[in-house]
Amino acid sequence: MQRILSLDDIRFTYTPDEPDKPMAVDGVSFDMQPGEWIAVVGHNGSGKSTLARLMIGLLFPQEGKVELFGDTLTEENLWDKRSQMGMVFQNPDNQFVGATVQDDVAFALENNGIPFEEMTVRVREALGQVKMDGFLDHEPQHLSGGQKQRVAIAGALALRPRLLILDEATSMLDPQGREEVIRVILELREKTGLSVISITHDLEEALLADRIVVMNRGRKFAEGTPREVFANGNELTALGLDLPFALRLSSLLREQGVTINETMSERKLVESLWTSRLNG
Ligand SMILES: Nc1ncnc2c1ncn2[C@@H]1O[C@H](COP(=O)(O)OP(=O)(O)OP(=O)(O)O)[C@@H](O)[C@H]1O
Ligand SMILES: [Mg+2]
Repeated sequence: MQRILSLDDIRFTYTPDEPDKPMAVDGVSFDMQPGEWIAVVGHNGSGKSTLARLMIGLLFPQEGKVELFGDTLTEENLWDKRSQMGMVFQNPDNQFVGATVQDDVAFALENNGIPFEEMTVRVREALGQVKMDGFLDHEPQHLSGGQKQRVAIAGALALRPRLLILDEATSMLDPQGREEVIRVILELREKTGLSVISITHDLEEALLADRIVVMNRGRKFAEGTPREVFANGNELTALGLDLPFALRLSSLLREQGVTINETMSERKLVESLWTSRLNG
């Protein structure tokens, strides 16, 4: 099957005239298969957003190559490739251009020359996918954070992308808003086989991914399934990342002599505590 994305040893610096400064992205490679969800985590300034900008051709690497849907990304095919991607950023307020929810979602379609009839269908469909079809004529600025971010995602989905890139798209949201957004994306992926890259500080969110890429100082520090990556919990803590709650609590309890399995899921932690109590 064709790869959705492939990064091959890419390097990028914002300051090419100052070779002594560390590079923002320094020799990163990884591949993505169709339908995969990859979470990219790392401390502030580790190069995550730069990586996202390189993936969508807002920046070009000084070395190495970015491959999208089977072709190396170039100035020539940039617009064609970008029309197959959706991107959502951290702050929903900076992303609204329309006076109403439906205008806003229609905006990118209009720019892409989608005919009016088709546009109406797609706007409704995308807003339905994020459960915001009851808000067509609402003003975006009066929505809650979670609702705004769902509208921003609808804007990206209306383009029917093959790849959705979320850069801290849930970080301004309260836990409920965050859960809403994540549930919607999980459902969509299930239904449509959408591939997702989510850049996040939230390791609980990263747990849901098929694979996690950990960035540190512009380099790929680790890559693997959540289980593989969190197996080296201490290393991640040393990088300044907060481990998932259940993993932290279960290892603390073990240190205190409680006989339970180390686990990443809160449900399993509760089950394990019950069993340990019944046996102990
Ligand atoms: N527009 C820019 N001009 C110059 N340097 C930049 C620019 N954007 C980022 N950098 C630098 O590049 C490095 C990587 O930054 P980047 O924003 O990619 O990190 P990040 O992992 O997304 O951080 P955060 O978690 O804070 O969003 C940092 O040292 C940062 O200071
Ligand atoms: Mg960033």
